[in-house]
Formats: sequence, structure tokens, C-alpha cells
Amino acid sequence: MHEPYRYEVLPLDTPDEDPRWAAYLDIFDFGFLDRRSADASVETYRTHRRRDRATLGMVTTVGPGLAGRQPVGAFASAPFTLNAGAGIVDCLVINTIAVSPSHRRRGLLTEMMRLHMGDARDRGLGCAVLSASEATIYGRYGFGVATRQMDLSIDTARFHVRDDVDVAEGHIEFVHPLFLQPHFDRITLAHQSRYRGAHGRVHGHYLLHTGAWDRADEGPSRSLRAAVHFDADGVPDGFAIFKHKGWESSPVTAEVVQVCSPHPSVDRALWRCLASIDLVERLTYGSSHPGDPLPLALKDPWSVKVTGGDDAVWLRLLDLAVATRQRGFDADGDVTFRVIDPLGWCEGTWRLRADGGRGTVERSDATPAITLGVDALATLWLGDRTAETLALAGRVTGDPDAIRAFSRVFATDLPPVNLARF
Ligand SMILES: CC(C)(COP(=O)(O)OP(=O)(O)OC[C@H]1O[C@@H](n2cnc3c(N)ncnc32)[C@H](O)[C@@H]1OP(=O)(O)O)[C@@H](O)C(=O)NCCC(=O)NCCS
Repeated sequence: MHEPYRYEVLPLDTPDEDPRWAAYLDIFDFGFLDRRSADASVETYRTHRRRDRATLGMVTTVGPGLAGRQPVGAFASAPFTLNAGAGIVDCLVINTIAVSPSHRRRGLLTEMMRLHMGDARDRGLGCAVLSASEATIYGRYGFGVATRQMDLSIDTARFHVRDDVDVAEGHIEFVHPLFLQPHFDRITLAHQSRYRGAHGRVHGHYLLHTGAWDRADEGPSRSLRAAVHFDADGVPDGFAIFKHKGWESSPVTAEVVQVCSPHPSVDRALWRCLASIDLVERLTYGSSHPGDPLPLALKDPWSVKVTGGDDAVWLRLLDLAVATRQRGFDADGDVTFRVIDPLGWCEGTWRLRADGGRGTVERSDATPAITLGVDALATLWLGDRTAETLALAGRVTGDPDAIRAFSRVFATDLPPVNLARF
């Protein structure tokens, strides 16, 4: 890193009273146009980053206006998990990135990106993930949109599950969200195990989704509410968390934050229960996905409207051989293709063989029939898009028959599902 900049890591065992904790968090608060965090927020940040075994990278510098060497850029990443279609595997999550406006466009993000991802690759991880604030930042580092989330608006008066569709029996009760704490890890892990594309949770999710912490309240949440589904043995096997938007909302709305279970029939039971809350005319939901089966299960599918959508997860393949071994394949095949990678890690021509659900790649000297960027490969990796679709967009090029064969090898029976945002 060029002088006077220096890359450093804020150690997780830095004493609580060290002012660098607040200075570090304030890089993010400033970058995301927020007010300075209160002491309680700094304490919560410290606790959850320690629990996550995060790497708190930062760039420090000296100069006029700075009291000694101070952080002016920060990059936090942590160990994380992904269901890549053949079980849950380790990956890297890049949680937060910000560079002070007075030090932007000098390559600080690029340096920190290379350091964190290079280290993860050296440690044997196959991929890294992040969620982006702008679509134009991360393609240059080889990230592609791998899963998407859709916003739904549900008219509760028209919400009726079809008579021929199964709804889980069992019991639903409305509880204080803290009730979820002993069950949260088990239920979210069951959901993650069920769906390709699903991520694990960092400690912050646990705090936010059990109401232990609320950013706006800077303390326990007063607005979060929870419904829990209990199986026939009385064991919680799914939950919904939501917030009433109050009488000012028109129509009167409850904002559903998450419906989480490994069973679609339990999800339906929870949705039916939420839709039956007296006085609530509309449910909104920001964690749906393009393949959400909910409307198909309803008598009136138009009671559910898609009102928006968003990139949920951007994926970066760090090591193609590792990532391929960890990916589940729903089809067999043998394809050779060229990957263009701005950082070089996956650059080259590869032969991929998929058989019986698992795949391997090796470098190849053959002339590839198709070429694609590593960002396009990330976009089809979890099954959100096919190579044929990317070819229509001009992002996969080459022989049409080879593109079709390539597309089939990577196609998945179900689109990816993910409830974790980070
Ligand atoms: C986004 C941010 C971290 C970039 O940091 P930075 O140190 O200025 O980035 P770099 O100097 O390493 O820029 C690397 C490249 O990305 C480009 N770039 C950086 N930010 C960009 C943006 N917002 N949109 C488009 N391109 C961007 C730069 O122009 C540069 O391009 P080049 O390699 O072609 O010259 C910084 O602008 C920031 O903190 N923004 C506010 C918070 C934020 O958006 N964080 C990201 C959250 S996901």
C-alpha cells in the first residue's frame, strides 16, 4: 500500500475502552450517511463481530486534521456459509466497506478487496459474497449477481390457500421475538440446508431477528413481533417476524421481515395466519425470491403483487476447482469453456465434468467453444440465471450448441432461495 497509507487490522481482542472501536465503526456510519453510533451500538458491534470471528481491516493514514494515524477506510469480512447445492460449505462474507470521501478513488477499496479475498483463497475457500449498495462497483472485481430478492404486497382479504394445497397442521402462537432465541439457529440452519443459495447467519442476524437489537431503537426492538409454528410434538419448526406499520399506513399494513422454515407447508401456515390478523389489510414482504411458490398455492394468485426487486447476493468465485467440487449439479455433462477473470484467479480454459450430482474441473489446452467472464459464471452459479439467458444478453459467447450444453450442465431444478441479507 502506498505511503502514507497503511493497511492494518483492528484486533478483536482490542480492549473495549479503546477509542479505535468507535473510530472504526464511524467509517461505516459516515460512509452510509448515518449519525455517529451511540456507546450501546459500539458495544453491540464489538460483541457481534467477535462472535463472527470477523477480520476488521482498515487503511490508516496521517495528515492535517487527523489526530495521529487514523482509519480512513474500513473493510470487514468474516467466515460464512453457503448451500451450494450439495450441502453447506464455507465461504467469505464481505460485510461492510467504506472509504472516507477525502480519500476516495485512490485505490483503497481495491487494495482491501485483493487482500481479504486473496487471503480467503489461500485458506482454501471457493467463493466470497457481498451485498452491494450500487450495481457498478463490484463487477470489476469479478462479482456477479447470484441471487435476487423480490418485494411482495399481499392483499389479505383475497388471501386464501387453494383447497387442494397442503397447509401444515400444528399450532401457531404469537410470541415475543426473544422466544425464538433457543430455536433460531436450528430453524435457520434447517432452512439453509433445504435450499440451494441459502446463506448462514452472522450474529447480527440473530440479534436483529430475535428482537434483541434494533438499529433505530439502539437497544431491544419494540416493534418486532413473532409468530411461531409448532409441530405435532410441540417443537417450533418455523417462524415469521413482522412489524405493524400502524394506523397511518394505508391500507393498514404489517411489514413481514422474514418467514423461515424448511417446509413450504409450514410457510403457508404462517402466511395464512399473518393474513388473518384482524384489521391488517396488507402484508408487505421484502425477502421473497423470483421462484417463490406462494402465489401458485393461492385461490387468487393476483392477491400477491410483485412491487419491486433487488440484488440480494453478489458472488465471486475465488477458486474454480474448489467451488466446482462444492457445487451440486442437477444434470450430467462434459463441457470446455474459457473464463476471463480481471483478478486472474479463475482465468483460463477449463474442462468441467459433472456426474451423479457432483462436478470437477481441470485446466485444458483444448480450444474452448465458449467464453464468459467470471462475473457471468457467478450469475449462473446458483441457478438464478441460465447460460442461455446470459448468452441472449451477450455475456456468454461462442458456438450455440456448446452454449446450450453448458447451460444444461449448470441449470438447476429450483432457483436459489436465500433469506439472509448482509
Ligand atoms: C465505494 C467505495 C468503498 C469505493 O472506495 P475507493 O477507495 O474510492 O475505491 P477505489 O479507489 O479502490 O476504486 C476502484 C475502482 O472502482 C471505481 N469505483 C469506486 N466507487 C465506485 C462507485 N460508487 N461506482 C462506480 N465505480 C466506482 C473507481 O472509479 C475505480 O475505478 P478504476 O479502477 O477504473 O479506476 C467508496 O466510494 C465509499 O465508501 N462509498 C460509500 C459507501 C459505499 O458505497 N460502500 C460500499 C458498500 S457496498
